[in-house]
Amino acid sequence: MKVRDSGMPPQDYWETLLNVPGILDAFGFGPATGDVAELGCGYGTFSLPLARRIGGTIHTLDIDPEMVAVTRQRAAEAGLNNVRAELRDVLAEGFGVPADSCDAALLFNILHAEEPVALLSAARDAVKPGGLVAVIHWRSDVVTPRGPALEIRPRPEQIIAWATAAGLRTDGASFGLAPWHFGLKLLRD
Ligand SMILES: C[S@@+](CC[C@H](N)C(=O)[O-])C[C@H]1O[C@@H](n2cnc3c(N)ncnc32)[C@H](O)[C@@H]1O
Repeated sequence: MKVRDSGMPPQDYWETLLNVPGILDAFGFGPATGDVAELGCGYGTFSLPLARRIGGTIHTLDIDPEMVAVTRQRAAEAGLNNVRAELRDVLAEGFGVPADSCDAALLFNILHAEEPVALLSAARDAVKPGGLVAVIHWRSDVVTPRGPALEIRPRPEQIIAWATAAGLRTDGASFGLAPWHFGLKLLRD
């Protein structure tokens, strides 16, 4: 099932709204990072820059065939051979990577889902013990140019409570990702 309110505006516009290198820096992704799983490749906005900087492969999933096609095309044009973009309903089927196999999982702009604990649990299962579940979402305390309706937009405290229910712990408080996002580092013990 497609997560509610998870459609995308045009690519050019979407990619003006996010400081992608700054966000990837904030989570410490670099050459020492192995495999990463991502729920919702969208246009590959994060998948491609991440693939360029990590040592492993990015396994990125999307329920929308157009998003998968765009991400594959962009990866091919960029000559990246460590992007695996697959059509998959992660809510119904999980990430499709071996359990405990990834250094990190990305839940970027998706935890306004109907079943956030299930998504966090699937991400936890994908990462190794000690692995990172990286979350970003739109802030609710400022006016933002995009993002899901405020009624379903989760705040950091809400995500921390869901993460605890999913068997993840927080690594520090939430942090700002200017101009319109916050981030959270969740760890699997
Ligand atoms: C708001 S976009 C964010 C994309 C990307 N994470 C980013 O921040 O640029 C959410 C994406 O999740 C995808 N999606 C929604 N429900 C999904 C599901 N159940 N399984 C896999 N992908 C899903 C949508 O098709 C969309 O491409």
